[in-house]
Amino acid sequence: IGKRIICLEETDSTNNVTFRLAEEGTAEGTVVIADAQSRGKGRLGRSWASPKGVNLYCSVVLRPSMPPVAASQLTFLSVVAVARAIELSTSLKAWIKWPNDILINGRKIAGLLNEMSAETEKVNFVVLGIGININMRQEQFPTDLRHPASSLYIESGAELDRNRFIRTLLKELDDLYDVYLQRGYGPVREEWLSRSQLYGRKARIDCQDRTMTGIIRGIDDMGALLLDLDGREERILSGDVTLL
Ligand code: BTN
Repeated sequence: IGKRIICLEETDSTNNVTFRLAEEGTAEGTVVIADAQSRGKGRLGRSWASPKGVNLYCSVVLRPSMPPVAASQLTFLSVVAVARAIELSTSLKAWIKWPNDILINGRKIAGLLNEMSAETEKVNFVVLGIGININMRQEQFPTDLRHPASSLYIESGAELDRNRFIRTLLKELDDLYDVYLQRGYGPVREEWLSRSQLYGRKARIDCQDRTMTGIIRGIDDMGALLLDLDGREERILSGDVTLL
């Protein structure tokens, strides 16, 4: 990962640029980094604040041989890589919130948006989109956020060298992807669970069409959240978690 790195001053969304490059056949491991995004995309159709020169906005192409249903495993892999990179670069403790948020002191620092091109049986490629608030100041955040957000600078009080951070992140991604290709999803899932604060916690899950409250029991192989609703287990594929 990172043999080909494309750095852009500004683009609409690194995921869009990378998706097009992947369609044109760019090699696995190609990375696109932008200094600013004019239309940064978040999960569930939301936007991702992407001011210039302070944060990391990047996307990575992977070409795993796997069925599309297993692709969420790569989301968990990239979240673990981001958590590791944060802990290697700062003295902060990074927690994972299902499915793909990174929290520090309860505030969101980073998010992942993975997009995929696939046929029924097999994945063509996956674009891992990673956004990390690094040196962003409080006044640069939008005021209408659903959950509290922060940056590594705000939490640690120190500015971080973005280039060094990117190198650390790409190395962790590369290491984890190697482990994943050789040993499968098991080690990634275990590290994901140990870094999440979900086990046994009471939570409210807002899904598209309904809201549920229950006790979180873990995640399954497809990345679904397992929620205990008074003894009945519910598998949730996508939604917004609020710990209660
Ligand atoms: C989320 O938590 O909602 C996901 C945010 C993902 C943001 C990153 S920034 C780099 C890449 N390009 C995008 O447009 N989005 C992702």
